[in-house]
Amino acid sequence: MAESWVNSAERIGADLHLELSGPGGRRAALTRALREAVRGGRLVPGTRLPPYRSLAADLGVARNTVADAYAELVAEGWLTARQGSGTRVAAGVTPPHGRQRAGAASGAPARVPKKAPRARGPRHDLRQGTPDASSFPRAAWLASARRALQQAPNEAFGPGDPAGRAELREALAEYLARARGVRTEPGRIVICSGFAHALRLLFPQVLRGPLAVESYGLGFHRQLLADASVRTVPLPLDEDGALVGELGRERAVLLTPAHQFPTGGPLHAERRAAVVDWARARGGVILEDDYDGEFRYDRKPVGALQGLDPERVIHIGSVSKSLSPALRLGWMVLPERFVDPVLETKGEREAWASALDQLTLADFIGSGSYDRHVRRMRQRYRGRRDRLVATLAARAPHVEVTGIAAGLHAVLRLPPGTERSAVKAAVWQGVALDGLAEFRHPGAAMSAPDGLVVGYATPAEHAYGAALDALCDVLPPG
Ligand SMILES: Cc1ncc(COP(=O)(O)O)c(C=O)c1O
Repeated sequence: MAESWVNSAERIGADLHLELSGPGGRRAALTRALREAVRGGRLVPGTRLPPYRSLAADLGVARNTVADAYAELVAEGWLTARQGSGTRVAAGVTPPHGRQRAGAASGAPARVPKKAPRARGPRHDLRQGTPDASSFPRAAWLASARRALQQAPNEAFGPGDPAGRAELREALAEYLARARGVRTEPGRIVICSGFAHALRLLFPQVLRGPLAVESYGLGFHRQLLADASVRTVPLPLDEDGALVGELGRERAVLLTPAHQFPTGGPLHAERRAAVVDWARARGGVILEDDYDGEFRYDRKPVGALQGLDPERVIHIGSVSKSLSPALRLGWMVLPERFVDPVLETKGEREAWASALDQLTLADFIGSGSYDRHVRRMRQRYRGRRDRLVATLAARAPHVEVTGIAAGLHAVLRLPPGTERSAVKAAVWQGVALDGLAEFRHPGAAMSAPDGLVVGYATPAEHAYGAALDALCDVLPPG
């Protein structure tokens, strides 16, 4: 009968299940099981194996049986044994998904290149969407994570409240009121994994379509709504934002009031007031996507639309632009009547955002690290934006740069009919960016200006100059 053993993490640092079965004695079975664990990648290079005695005791075999099995695998090259550091999986044996050479299958370890190949991205990444990953505040985040872990009550390690951790909701209520002019209290905030998750929670369980959206926006969000059978109705835009006076029979509208995505302007004050009046008159609701509200440069801060009427606006934000989209942490500030329906949709437990990450973010905000990071990044991005504007003024004065007062991207207006060829040229030159057409609602009736959406946050600091040079090379001649 097969015997199995599950080792404890303290002994070798990784959980491993071994089955002793098959022909031959116990020594042969153990040798085979260990060899398979290494070859299959369950025991990765460098992993320390348990001492003879403890493995022998766990498996109910003689100490010598373990010693012999280890010795055989050392001789085959799968393991290494060194005085003082015990027996370890040899460096360079086949990784979990590595290709095996012919010799490996017959027992000899296959060697792999020292450096695993990395996915090759574009040479110059000027796509909108992600902040400068090299500026992630690792030390401050780690300090918050450490404090959060040390101070977390035991109940934090149990099933989570679907509303999210109270510590984070309290920190956010204070921060959003102070920095964005949001009117709320922690009971109105529901933690989610970001804007996309918020849309998934709202539609179709809490809100129904059709949903009015801006004629230019993120296709990913439109698709997500379409997948939820929500019809989106495009609202035309001009330099003052969405023409909210053209709202029709819809009961909900999705806007990016602080910084229209991607064209870049704020929603004019009169339109902000008008859309709130519309929502009040129709019993409608406004979804406010505050995706980069912290990053404003030249103009007066544009506060959250939610501040005008907390009962008519669902304010949604996340750390995707301010810290990293990899964290998957966001929030919804809800009118009272939507809190319970959203929580019901979420289910009895928080299944999306890790409680420890939430506690870390709460500490990060509470300790002032979030404000410091945003201020630092605001300065850095402003510098990049200025460099972009100056470079284009010098090398492509016929290209107008718009949408630059805020955010992490700009829109370069191109001469009519040149967008497609510029996008093509960018692909050839290894410059990743998008044309404006990429963001256009398929049903949009307004004119379709030619333009490029250029994200200036993504390249690391040292790579930015070269990215700007490459950008100039793909622009149509004046
Ligand atoms: C228009 C817009 N809204 C919202 C977001 C944030 O999305 P999420 O919070 O799902 O990462 C982004 C991307 O960062 C965006 O471009």
